[in-house]
Amino acid sequence: MKDIEWSKLTFSYTETDVMIRSSYRNGAWGDLVATPDKTINIHAAAAGLQYAQQCFEGLKVYRRVDGTIGIFRPDMNARRMQSSAEAMYMPPVPVDMFLQAMEMAVKYNIDYLPPYGTGATLYIRPIMFGTSPRVGVSSADEFEFCVIVTPIGPYFPVGFGTTPFVINRHVDRAAPFGTGQYKVGGNYASSLRATEPAHEQGLGVLFLDSAEHKYLDECGGANIFLVKNGVYCTPKSDSILPSIINRSLMTLCGDMGIKVEERRIAVTELGDFQEAASCGTGAAISPISTITDPDNGVVYNYGIEPGPVCVKLFTTLRDIQFGRTEDIHGWCHLIDC
Ligand code: PLP
Ligand code: COI
Repeated sequence: MKDIEWSKLTFSYTETDVMIRSSYRNGAWGDLVATPDKTINIHAAAAGLQYAQQCFEGLKVYRRVDGTIGIFRPDMNARRMQSSAEAMYMPPVPVDMFLQAMEMAVKYNIDYLPPYGTGATLYIRPIMFGTSPRVGVSSADEFEFCVIVTPIGPYFPVGFGTTPFVINRHVDRAAPFGTGQYKVGGNYASSLRATEPAHEQGLGVLFLDSAEHKYLDECGGANIFLVKNGVYCTPKSDSILPSIINRSLMTLCGDMGIKVEERRIAVTELGDFQEAASCGTGAAISPISTITDPDNGVVYNYGIEPGPVCVKLFTTLRDIQFGRTEDIHGWCHLIDC
């Protein structure tokens, strides 16, 4: 195992040994290969660069209490990457090939999988993009699928402490009517002028629906849920990423007898909730302390301690991921290394 200060890791890139890649040529994906070279030599006119014909995914690998190694619900990421690829007119990577690539990426970089108990995990970032040179707006016919991994710590610097958020009405993360439901880099890049200034002030960003700016959509890199009188409420929207963690939390709520409401949530309702949190692979569950609405001069307060529903869900999710409780839904994909 590498000599890394695991518990000091943040959500940033640390170099690892190997990248996995496959090329799509003549209508078919080639073999997955492991290579120490993480750079890619592509034409400056590649469709992935010119027209953002690309998509990506994010997953975490856990070293578990009994020494086994598990990836959390990689089949879900495989399918979401297929729908992102189809949305960008790219050939989907078959689910089996995707899973094989995840396993190879972990095996070849096993020395970077953080030890149990450090709070750190190994993050897998699959990405695919068009490589054929294009000047007219048209699809590539050659593509590259690459999988990089990096050991990481918490997404928000305060970890499971509470993070202040700010509402943004001026930059849309997603166009109305659905484009945000795919994990494509262009959406994220166009939100940077909202997220970067906020992050400099230690704030997370909450985006609203881009048609009317009246309803909650999601955070910059995570969904949001709120709790009202013990009920788990999360926005229903065509323009948010269907979060695997949010879906899993809704299932856990069902197991625990917590009522779930997936519906439009108006900004004007924000004062009615007792808890709020962002949720996703990177964020895990990151409780929100305040949501500031700068355009209306209002601050909604959820407290600086995580609330009881957040704690219960966080503990259960973590216990499943780290193998401390029975995985009754079969979410952990165990791998031999
Ligand atoms: N929403 C956005 C915009 C994201 O980038 C992410 C992170 O992947 C999520 C939601 C959470 O999705 P998941 O729970 O599948 O990681
Ligand atoms: C993730 O949670 O996996 C993400 O991809 C969030 C963000 C870094 C894009």
